[in-house]
Amino acid sequence: MSSPYADRVLGWYAQHARDLPWRAPGVSPWAVLVSEIMLQQTPVSRVLPAYQAWLARWPTPAALAADAPGEAVRQWGRLGYPRRALRLHETATIVTKKYAGELPTTREQLLALPGIGAYTAAAVAVFVFGGRHAVLDTNVRRVLARVETGREFPGAQPSAAEYRLAESLLPQDEAVAARWSVAVMELGALTCTAAAPRCEECPVTAACAWLAAGRPAAPVRPAAQ
Ligand code: ADE
Repeated sequence: MSSPYADRVLGWYAQHARDLPWRAPGVSPWAVLVSEIMLQQTPVSRVLPAYQAWLARWPTPAALAADAPGEAVRQWGRLGYPRRALRLHETATIVTKKYAGELPTTREQLLALPGIGAYTAAAVAVFVFGGRHAVLDTNVRRVLARVETGREFPGAQPSAAEYRLAESLLPQDEAVAARWSVAVMELGALTCTAAAPRCEECPVTAACAWLAAGRPAAPVRPAAQ
């Protein structure tokens, strides 16, 4: 089973997607991992120059592993949460030694690497290696909370039920499922935003439980939204 509004979301994405370098065809698995780690806690506009500089300096895990961890922290600069740089260095070292310099391809193998949590493991497995998994970041979770459950915001952590719902909405074809996940993410980032959703521009208003209910405000607004 897949989402009844998948075609509308995919059509919207084809028209509105930002042209971001980590989404270009042929981007290396390492580059996608670097982008996802940087994007975890930092906005796209600040990630863009840091991402380009990082990959220019260390185009492969082996290149980073050959440098000192302190250099990774220095290069991380002002992106914030510099522990991410150390974890990325540890991951580069493991990938170089244990996987001959190539990122492992399954969600479970990726999850075992330092600094790679459920979201990042799924994102890399899906966007790079064609796995068919739910990719639940803050934006996707907010869109699904609104459209599917009529709530303004999701809970603090993704629940098992939320994963089951997100998996049930995935299109069957792996490549389409990957595009669907990034499309829902983009819809959350650009249109179904936390503070000022632009429902008039949204392709899924007809299916949205939150809109149908009159956009009720959440009783407690989550701090990080
Ligand atoms: N494209 C793929 N993953 C992304 C992310 N985490 N943020 C923005 N765009 C993305």
